[in-house]
Order: sequence, then structure tokens, then C-alpha cells
Amino acid sequence: MKKVVLAYSGGLDTSCCAQWLRDRNYEVICFIADLGQEEDFVKIEKRALSGGASKVYIKDLRQEFVDDFIFPALKANAIYEGKYLLATALGRPLIAKYLVDVAHKEKAKAIAHGCTGKGNDQVRFEVTTQILDPELEIIAPVRIWEFKSREEEIGYALAKKIPIEATKKKPYSIDKNLWGVSIESGILENPWIEPPEDCYQWTKSPESAPHKAGYIELTFEKGIPKKINGKIYDGIGLIEKLNKIGSLHGIGRSDLIENRLVGIKSREIYEAPAGTILYLAHKELESLVLDRELAHYKDGMSPKYAEFIYYGLWYSPLRIALDKFIAETQKNVTGAVKLKLYKGNCIVTGKKSPYSLYRQDLATYSSGDKFDQRLAQGFIRIFGMPYQMKPRLTER
Ligand code: ARG
Repeated sequence: MKKVVLAYSGGLDTSCCAQWLRDRNYEVICFIADLGQEEDFVKIEKRALSGGASKVYIKDLRQEFVDDFIFPALKANAIYEGKYLLATALGRPLIAKYLVDVAHKEKAKAIAHGCTGKGNDQVRFEVTTQILDPELEIIAPVRIWEFKSREEEIGYALAKKIPIEATKKKPYSIDKNLWGVSIESGILENPWIEPPEDCYQWTKSPESAPHKAGYIELTFEKGIPKKINGKIYDGIGLIEKLNKIGSLHGIGRSDLIENRLVGIKSREIYEAPAGTILYLAHKELESLVLDRELAHYKDGMSPKYAEFIYYGLWYSPLRIALDKFIAETQKNVTGAVKLKLYKGNCIVTGKKSPYSLYRQDLATYSSGDKFDQRLAQGFIRIFGMPYQMKPRLTER
């Protein structure tokens, strides 16, 4: 029997994948990644074992997810198409890394995933696997199996006695981890329809958020958030806490028609309360400590960094090189930011840093001005000189 390591979530698709691979004479080892999706992992493990798996690995990857994926993306201010903080996209290369790892441990020659042939996630799993071990075979049952509909899939599950949850159709497809929730399909496929309140998993609506604003103070060290209101948190705890506070105030919802890598546009709803607060605060602190040219140059690079995460190219030379550049830019991104949270809005109300480049004695319009305004005249003459030049047509 050939061994295969399957990325397993416990949902209908991956459960059918496990059995389908068994039918084809594979020994199936299920790999379950804990990325903070708040699931009952004991139950999922049992389901895997009674649904055809010979062995199950459950790994808590939250710490690595935060330190090596989420925080680098935060430092890069990486946002896809202006609205997506990349929660799902950031998780995939990490899961793939461990699929490869388990395959090596188990001497398996193949890995498998439950993604469809229309999405980005298949690309992320497979490109990462190819980069880390090009020898491994990759099997994507959902792309090739015989089931033409969800009903047929459920029929197969029932016939094979695969333990699946309540089989009635769920209204949305949801992917969740510590960094955010991605919600699609069902009624959301019509971009003219306002997302129904029941699609949101974490956040309150602006209407039901408290009528009183909440205030928080965040402290960063070298681009990494360390404290909330003066209290130290580890990365996981800090994100969890901000998800709670942000959700209460309706922060971090977005609604995006996005360009998928496979060429189609799709509509997805996102929730990223902690991410939204942290991105805003981080960017604000950068405005205080980065000089103009560095800030502008870095801003130009952020969409590219986001694109590479979205495209599944985490382990690519460009992304890794950009990371080195970003690390250098974060040396002085230390300080505090005050924010006001109010009915879906996150508003910065103050910022300070020991490395601030802001000089009140240069900026002031009041007494104590140190800026020598007489120097401006010569500066402007020379600055504008190239644009005064006219061709001298007499010179041949
Ligand atoms: N569109 C997002 C991405 O490509 C999320 C994909 C998964 N979404 C879901 N609802 N299952 O990263």
C-alpha cells in the first residue's frame, strides 16, 4: 500500500478525500493543523480515524504562524487588493511545510489536499510542496473525482459510513484561523446583495456595537506588537485579545470582489479585527519614524509582498529578500499608538516613539520656530530648474 499524507480539516470534502484515497488502496495519514481555528480537535481526530485514516497528526502551529507568517506580513503592511489581510493565504504554506515534514517522517511518497480546481488554495499547497520537495507526488481528489455535486458527495459519505456532521447544506463556505475569517458562496455570490448579518462569525455590526467608544494603547518593539494598555502579551494572546475587543466594536469587516490567481473574480467577505487594528497602528508608527524616501519606497513594495502571499509564493527568493529589507526598516518602529474604536471605525488618536523624526521646533507655526524660511527661496529655484529648460533650437 502506498502512503499519502492528507491535509485534513474534518469537513465533508476532506472526509470524503480520506475514504476516496482508501478506495484507491492508499494508506491515509491525516495531518490536522491548529492555526487557532477554535475546533474540537479530539472530535476531528476520532472522525479521521473512523473515516479511514491509519494515523493522525495534530500539530499546534499557532506560535510559528504568528512569529514566522503573521508578523512578517504585518511588518510589510501586506494587504491584497486593498482589503484582504490574507489570513487563509498565510496559513497554507505553513500547513504545506508540515505535510512535507510528515511525509518525510512517514516515508510517504505523496501528499493530498481537499481543495477544488477553481481556487487559490490548491496553488498555495502545491507550489509550496514543489519548492520544498519536488519529488513528492501531489493528489487533489476533489479535482478529479466522480462526484458532480454536494449531494452526490454526501451520498458517497453515507454509503461508506463516513462520519460527517449534520448533512444539511451550510449557507456559507468558511475558513477560519487566528488571523481572520474568510466567508464565501451561497447568497454572497451576488455582489449586489448586502452580506446578511448571519454570515459574520466574529464581529458585531456597527449598529449593535456599543454606543460608547473604546480606547486602547498599543506598544510596538521593532515593528512587533508587545503590549495592550501597558500589559505585556505573547503574540497569540495579543491577537486573541484584539480580536475580542475589535469584534465587540465591529472592526475589521471587508467585502471584496477579488482577482483569483486562476483568472476568475470572486466575492469574499473577510473579518480581521486584530489585523485591522494592528495594521493601522503599525503604519501610523512608521509614519513617525521612517524618513520620507524609505516610507514611500516601502509603501510601493507592500502590494507586491501581498501578491506573493496571495499567489502562494511564500518560499520564493523575492519574498525572502523583501523580508530582509523589511527587517532593516523595522529597527526603529518602536513606540506607542492610541486608538479609538467606535462602531466599525478604528481611529488613531495619538502616537509617540523614542525614534520619532517629527520635530515640533521645525514644524511649528508658533514661537520657537527653528526653520530658516529664507533658505526656501534658493531651494525652490534649484528644485524647479529642470522644468524651466526649453530646447535651444538655434544650436544645430
Ligand atoms: N479567497 C481567499 C483566498 O484565496 C479565501 C479562500 C478560502 N475561503 C473560504 N471561504 N473557504 O485566500
